[in-house]
Amino acid sequence: MLQISRKSFLFLFLFFIVSTLIYLTISTNYIYEIKQPFQSLDLPNISHATSNTIETKIIECREFADLTSYCLYENVCFKDNDFIFLTTNKTLENVNFEFNGQLSQWDHYYVQDTNGKIMRKNPNNPLPFRSFISGKYSNPLIWKESKIHHEGCHSFLAFDFHGHNIFHWSIKVSPLFLFKHYNKNNVCLTFKSIRLISRSPNDLNDWQRNFLEISSDLKIDETNYEFTNKANSNRYKLQCYKHVLVPGTSIYLFTGPKEAIDFREKVSRRYGIVYERRKVIIIKRKNRLIVNQNEFEEFIREKFGNESVECIFLEELNFQQQVEKISKAKLLIGVHGAGLTNGIFVPTLGTIIEITAPHFHYPLYERIAVQSGHIFFRFVTQYDPKIHADTYAKINSIDCLSQANCMLYWKNAALKVDISNFSVILDQALEVL
Ligand SMILES: *[C@@H]1O[C@H](CO)[C@@H](O)[C@H](O)[C@H]1NC(C)=O
Ligand SMILES: *[C@@H]1O[C@H](CO)[C@@H](O)[C@H](O)[C@H]1NC(C)=O
Ligand SMILES: *[C@@H]1O[C@H](CO)[C@@H](O)[C@H](O)[C@H]1NC(C)=O
Ligand SMILES: *[C@@H]1O[C@H](CO)[C@@H](O)[C@H](O)[C@H]1NC(C)=O
Repeated sequence: MLQISRKSFLFLFLFFIVSTLIYLTISTNYIYEIKQPFQSLDLPNISHATSNTIETKIIECREFADLTSYCLYENVCFKDNDFIFLTTNKTLENVNFEFNGQLSQWDHYYVQDTNGKIMRKNPNNPLPFRSFISGKYSNPLIWKESKIHHEGCHSFLAFDFHGHNIFHWSIKVSPLFLFKHYNKNNVCLTFKSIRLISRSPNDLNDWQRNFLEISSDLKIDETNYEFTNKANSNRYKLQCYKHVLVPGTSIYLFTGPKEAIDFREKVSRRYGIVYERRKVIIIKRKNRLIVNQNEFEEFIREKFGNESVECIFLEELNFQQQVEKISKAKLLIGVHGAGLTNGIFVPTLGTIIEITAPHFHYPLYERIAVQSGHIFFRFVTQYDPKIHADTYAKINSIDCLSQANCMLYWKNAALKVDISNFSVILDQALEVL
């Protein structure tokens, strides 16, 4: 008897371990970097604040329906990448606030905050949604405890991913541009330093470096930036700052065409890029292949004339070369993926066609396209028994999105573009080209 239950215990235990591993493997792409609960801060035990104390003030927060947000603070301290909010409010003192590490994957589709459910912001958390920074309310005397005080304006960026995906990068960085663009308080006009949490200089690719410099107006070098994954990082020292901007994320990069146009102008001034709507650019990928790419390309070349059509692999170009190419597009065509983030560099009122797998309804690049001032079409390919397993052939998109393995299957599947179906979409696009 005992033997059996021990066996079944062992079985259940193994089952648990194995399913956890499977779950982690499947959902790795979607698990955001989760920091340990706040615990590192070892603050002196100060029981009373005096009058004329320095408190943290929230100068402005900008939140949009689509969760784009940042907050600007005055008088903030940091230790070990944790935000110390100085307050005389005894109820709050020593209360921790953690970012809620895991954003349910699809939250950003729902543009409304349904009763706090979508925002999932912990009560009392003074940081913007998806700042990925934790912190603590503390007695204001910490300000005096600190031996290092930084004047001027600073920013702290923490990320929800480890890799080089340019989409995830730009949703964290573009709030710097939005802030500088709309700064109404005349506070924090230029950044003195930017801390990149959990990053070292080598972690940035060319695209990311350029996008960061354009957005922040701060050249990347060791004096302007602090990379906390670098040896001898100062992160462990208690340090206080006059002004700190903490971005949340701007899922759609811009809140409308005006911002996108101003961003494009900034890019144009910096690199001498001229926007011209004349080419059809097809972004090619090394995965998520179009199995009949040649047929597809020929069809497009025939339709627009050979010289007007250009097929590019973005990963073979540096940032400036990518922008140079995309800045000449009147029509940009690509399979779903981070490369479509470059749609922001298509000249205003361009057209973007995203090709997607069946059952994969992920209206992310659609919003980026529209909010960048473009016209957007989605072409959904069909299940094809010659290239697809039948496991997820009959599921609907909503159910598929709720199952990580189905979603990943279709997200990365090879696709076949049915030319006569595509031409129906293209004919409509031609109306606005
Ligand atoms: C801080 O002071 C309070 C009251 O004087 C005391 O109860 C508490 O144990 C102290 N905490 C630490 C970490 O010393
Ligand atoms: C102190 O903080 C608590 C919790 O947020 C709040 O309910 C209370 O109104 C605050 N007290 C003052 C004096 O602001
Ligand atoms: C069309 O252009 C491509 C390069 O853009 C070239 O390789 C190809 O030979 C051209 N085809 C024709 C029929 O001119
Ligand atoms: C073409 O589009 C129709 C619907 O408009 C769809 O039923 C059909 O499966 C598509 N064919 C292919 C091969 O994609």
